[in-house]
Parts: sequence; structure tokens; C-alpha cells
Amino acid sequence: MKTKETHSGGALVRAITVGSVAAIAGLLFGFDTGVISGAQEFIYKTFNIAGDTSKIAMLKGFIVAAVPLGALFGAMFSGSFAHGLGRRMSLIYTAVFFLIGSMAAAFAFNIEMIVLGRLTMGFAIGISAMIAPMYLSEVSPPKIRGSVIFLFQLAITIGLLGAFCTNYIFAKSIADYTVNWRWMFGIGIIPSALLFFGMLNMPYSPRWLVLKGRKTEATSILKRLLDKSDVSKEIEEIDASVSRQGGSIKALFDKALLPLIGITFGLFVFQQLSGINAIMYYGPEVFRAAGFGNSSEMLAQIAMGSTNVVMSVVGLWIIDRIGRRSILFLGMGGIIICLTILGFLLQAGITSSMNSYAALGLVLAFVSFFAIGLGATPYIIMSEVFPLKARATGMAVASCANWGFNMMVSFSFGLFKGWFGLSNVFFMYAGFTAVGFTIAYIFLPETKGRRLECIEKNLYSGKPLRKLGEASDTEGTTLPNSEVLESLKEEKPVIA
Ligand code: BGC
Repeated sequence: MKTKETHSGGALVRAITVGSVAAIAGLLFGFDTGVISGAQEFIYKTFNIAGDTSKIAMLKGFIVAAVPLGALFGAMFSGSFAHGLGRRMSLIYTAVFFLIGSMAAAFAFNIEMIVLGRLTMGFAIGISAMIAPMYLSEVSPPKIRGSVIFLFQLAITIGLLGAFCTNYIFAKSIADYTVNWRWMFGIGIIPSALLFFGMLNMPYSPRWLVLKGRKTEATSILKRLLDKSDVSKEIEEIDASVSRQGGSIKALFDKALLPLIGITFGLFVFQQLSGINAIMYYGPEVFRAAGFGNSSEMLAQIAMGSTNVVMSVVGLWIIDRIGRRSILFLGMGGIIICLTILGFLLQAGITSSMNSYAALGLVLAFVSFFAIGLGATPYIIMSEVFPLKARATGMAVASCANWGFNMMVSFSFGLFKGWFGLSNVFFMYAGFTAVGFTIAYIFLPETKGRRLECIEKNLYSGKPLRKLGEASDTEGTTLPNSEVLESLKEEKPVIA
């Protein structure tokens, strides 16, 4: 006779469905951050923003950096949203903010309104970029958790590519430059509506329900998510992690949690200091400097966006196989090499079309290495290492690093390019990534395949940061569903 656990394929399908809907938030993140790369030139023309002075560069930088600035505010409040409203309801609310922001930018009659619209989109991104990975980590089985959270990063890249294609299509098809950028922003309304209606049909996070004392609902949702008839052990473990001491903000000052804040904050700092968004938001400008022109710079941007998507699929495929550490080091190592060579190439001067294509190749390689490693790993690690009680606040703090440094990089890129030259800016990003590599090498734990409660147990039993992902002594006995997870991996039925 087969036990109920034979339905583990159902658990997989459910995890992917929930993952895909929540990941629409990632799509909006990518779209709303990437759309400015093609829209900005038309906006400047429409509102007569011209010239090369530092003041103009700062104004332009501010228009681009409005989204990360809004996201920084969103990230600050994301912990309260996640804790109070819950993961699912927060994502529904952010869909409304996304909608309002896209409409404000699309119908803007002055620069201030564009900035306001982008701040609103940013606010939504800041909240959802923390809550969506958290929700995903809490509703997915451990064996495939890395891949499910990676769906969020994949969605970001699809959103970015969508933005680059939208930019190209409207720039080509609508000659009136006072109108085309409105369409570019307006398209964002569609995924906002999809997120809203999709999330209405998704379950609550069982861990949040337990946190709120709603154990009966949590039990029935967990049964459906894991496709098991008995989840009492899992509920017990979640319950134990909820009752561990420490209220959310207070818990952050717990000495045990400081290293977690350090590593998650640091991963986002170095993700941003790799300069990825200099390419994502200012791509056409970079490609122009590399010798592209007459709309071929927008095609180069599309090639770059496609590479980002394809390589994110590769990353998603391998993360739960080779683990977080190996994939990150591979990615960061590649970034350092690509940026350094690109810097030398630009320093020597782009003198032929061969050089232009070499520069394009290096940018594509840079983006590929980013996509498999530094892109998703910070989101995955931040969703895994914090204990339940401090998860919302801890992740909110890490997200502030993401957006604070995103804002700095996107704001400063134009200024730095003017002051130091493009090649030196790339050397700088390569240098930052080398520092990040060293720090991650020393401290980053390997959390592949570990249950969140096991990581938490390791933390409270005093294991150092680097060893948080090791099997806990009690793992064999406290993980009654290990056969189910194994069968989920091998798609083999468990026979009673
Ligand atoms: C980063 C974004 C970046 C994107 C590129 C994400 O992981 O947080 O800032 O634009 O990757 O794919």
C-alpha cells in the first residue's frame, strides 16, 4: 500500500505554482528598475533637461535613483509589513502600490510626478523584494528551496529583459518622444494586476500563521504544501522556533544574530558594488561608449538582458546541486576577471568594431557570472539564516543594504564616469568584488538542503556562522519527513 507521501510530486507542483505567482513581484522589480534605461533620454528631451554639468548629472542620477530610494524606505518598513500584515497580504498591498506608481509615471505632466511615481514603485519593490523571498522560503520543501527562491531572481531578470524589449519596441514604433516613454512605464500596470489577483489565490505562510497563534490553519496549509497527512512534527518544530526568546527588534541585538546581520548585509553591499546596475540602468550609455550607436545600443541591452535570463535559469538549475558557496565563488571570480579586462579594453580605447564586440562579449560574460552567483545568493541566504522570531527584522535590515547601495551606485555612476573615466569605474567595481569574495570565502555558511529549523537550532547551539548549515546532531531523529524529501528528489514513491 502506498502512503499519503506518494504525492510528493504534488508538493513540487504546488511549490512551483506558489513560487511563480509570488515571483511576479520580482518581475515588477526588474521591469520598474530597468525601464528607465530606455526611457530616460526621451524624458530628458520632453522636459528639456540638457547639458553636461555636474548639476544636470545629479538631477539625472536622482531620476534613476528614485526607485532604489523608494525601495530603501520600503525595505525599512518591510519587517513591520511581514510581521503585522503577514507575507501574503503584504504582497497584495504592494501590488496596489506598483499599480499607482506605474500610472503616476505614465501620466506624469512634470518631472516631479515621474519622481513621485518612481518613488512609489520603489516603495513597493523594497517591501516585496524582502517579503517574496521570505514567503518562498517558508512555503517550499528544503530540497528545492534554493531553486524556488531562485525563481524570484529569475523573475527579476525576465522583468529587466521585458523592460529592455518594451523600451526598444516603443522607441522604434512611436516617433513622438513626448509619448513613447509613457507607454514604457504604462506596461507595468499589467504585471501589477497579475500579482494582485494571483496572490489573492495563494495560501498564507504556515510559519507566519504559527507566529500569530493560528495553528489549525497552519496545519491544514502545511498538509497541502507538503502533501502529507501528518505534519504534527513540523508544526511542533515551527512552534518551538516561535517560542524561542527575543522579540523582533530586540532579537536583533542578540549577540548570536550579529554575524547573520553582518553576512546578509555584506552580501547585498557587494552585490551592488559589483556595478551590475551601472549596466542594467545605464546600459545604452555604456554600449555607446563601447562604440555602439543608432539604436544598436538598445539591441545590445536586449542581448545583455537575454543573457541574464538564460544564465539565471542555469543558476536555478544548479544551486541546490552544487550549493550556495561554490556557485557564489564561481560567479564572483568571473566578475572580477571580466570587469578587469573590460577596464583595460576601455582604457586602451575602442578603435575598431572588433573592440566594440569584445566589450559587448565582456559585458555579457560579466552579466552571466552575476546571474549564476551574486544575483540570487544574497536573497537565498537572507531567507535562510535568520531564526523565525527575527526573520522579518533581520531581512529588512539586509534589504536596506541592497537598496541603500543600489541607490549609491545608480546615483554616482554618471558622476564617477565624468570624474574618473569609465575604465576606472569598472576597475573599482572589480576591486570591491574581490574584497567581497574574500569576506564570503571566510564567513559564508553552506545551507544547501538544510531545514530552516535545523539552521536555527545550529545557531542557538552556538555554532559559528560558517558552520550554520551543518547537519545538527539531532537531525536524523527530528526530521521525520526526510524520506519524503528524498522521494521528492528522486520522484520515487514511499511504500508503507
Ligand atoms: C539585484 C538587482 C539587479 C538584478 C539584475 C538582482 O539580484 O538585486 O539590483 O538589477 O539582480 O539581474
